[in-house]
Amino acid sequence: MIFELNEEQKLIRQTVREFAEKEIKPSAAERDESESFDRSLMFDKLGELGLAGIVFPEEYGGAGADYISYAIAVEELSRVCASTGVTLSAHLSLGANPIYLFGSEEQKQQFLTPLAEGTKLGAFALTETAAGSDAGGTKTTAERDGEDWVLNGTKIFCTNGGEAEINIVFARTDKNAQKHHGISAFIVEKDTPGFSFGKKERKLGIRSSPTCEFVFDNCRIPAANLLGEEGSGFKVAMKTLDGGRIGIAAQALGIAQGAFEAALAYAKERKQFDQPISSFQAIQFKLADMATEIEAARLLVYQAAYKASAGQAYGKDSAMAKMYASDVAMRVTTEAVQVFGGYGFTRDFPVERMMRDAKITQIYEGTNEVQRVVIGVALTRD
Ligand code: CAA
Repeated sequence: MIFELNEEQKLIRQTVREFAEKEIKPSAAERDESESFDRSLMFDKLGELGLAGIVFPEEYGGAGADYISYAIAVEELSRVCASTGVTLSAHLSLGANPIYLFGSEEQKQQFLTPLAEGTKLGAFALTETAAGSDAGGTKTTAERDGEDWVLNGTKIFCTNGGEAEINIVFARTDKNAQKHHGISAFIVEKDTPGFSFGKKERKLGIRSSPTCEFVFDNCRIPAANLLGEEGSGFKVAMKTLDGGRIGIAAQALGIAQGAFEAALAYAKERKQFDQPISSFQAIQFKLADMATEIEAARLLVYQAAYKASAGQAYGKDSAMAKMYASDVAMRVTTEAVQVFGGYGFTRDFPVERMMRDAKITQIYEGTNEVQRVVIGVALTRD
């Protein structure tokens, strides 16, 4: 395979890198420490750059770019701040993309356009206390009442939760159906009566990205907010996650790249035994493994993104990319802390934050154990 970025993709990398270095990086450690989401910085400015809807057609407020460009944008943001990377990924892949894929023309005009323009933020609510990996175990209900649906139940671990104006919510519409059957997807707007926000999670990493519970207490939404066909919600969720995993893979890739660059620079500068530690083979071998694994992860991420843009099946590829890139992010950040030695364990250097941030990429949008299920089923299906 010969692989080279085109001019547009190179320009997006350059633009997002400059923006991320200048605007996002300086406050990343402080936002992590204070667990604060800075919306104007972490989302509004992404909208001004045209990133909020980068892959969607211009007619819906998007930039009409491809998925590799999107992956590059998430990668470059995550290279300096994984919380900003996931803000974009959850917004675009999980909040906006299901409306693009499954929405009616009216829903696209009403909801997708402001999401893609970056004037509204998106979120996705699938997980429940008893329905994590087993997404078909959804217990939240939606009952039809005249021209409305009435939602009851609680969702957890919602990225961008509490901040997002437009939320994709999965609920059981057929109580008699079993497992993944009888679930439907809905678009729920932030200020709808009966929709409130519960516990805000205090997390190991990605601390400036808000994560909270959604509580639905007789929350009444218009029938027109059903997304896709009634009862097709599980497939809406699975197709959405196929795309979302490209975003998380790109986030993991960016975290790994940031940690590698920090470790390389430090190794050249740090002297022990009268020489830079980069002259020791023990350190060079670490750097060699880190760089090689990052390159391999990058190829997997861009290949999945390429297939998504080319209209090819890519669910297996995005699962492979997410699984591999997130494992690489964990290994690379852990080794980066090791290269920094005792300093790496302090909050004076960014690698400890990157190590904490990397962990979630092995867990969310499907644990890496679930990714192996997805890949294994795809390999053995025929
Ligand atoms: N696209 C379309 N259809 C799909 C599909 C896909 N990718 N994957 C499965 N399906 C279909 C199957 O074909 C099957 O259809 P039929 O009923 O017509 O036969 C149906 O869905 C059920 O499939 P399975 O029997 O494989 O379903 P399962 O119950 O065994 O679950 C699973 C499979 C892969 C484990 C799935 O439940 C899963 O992906 N779980 C993980 C959920 C997840 O990623 N959650 C993350 C939430 S978001 C988040 O992390 C927070 C955030 O904001 C970042």
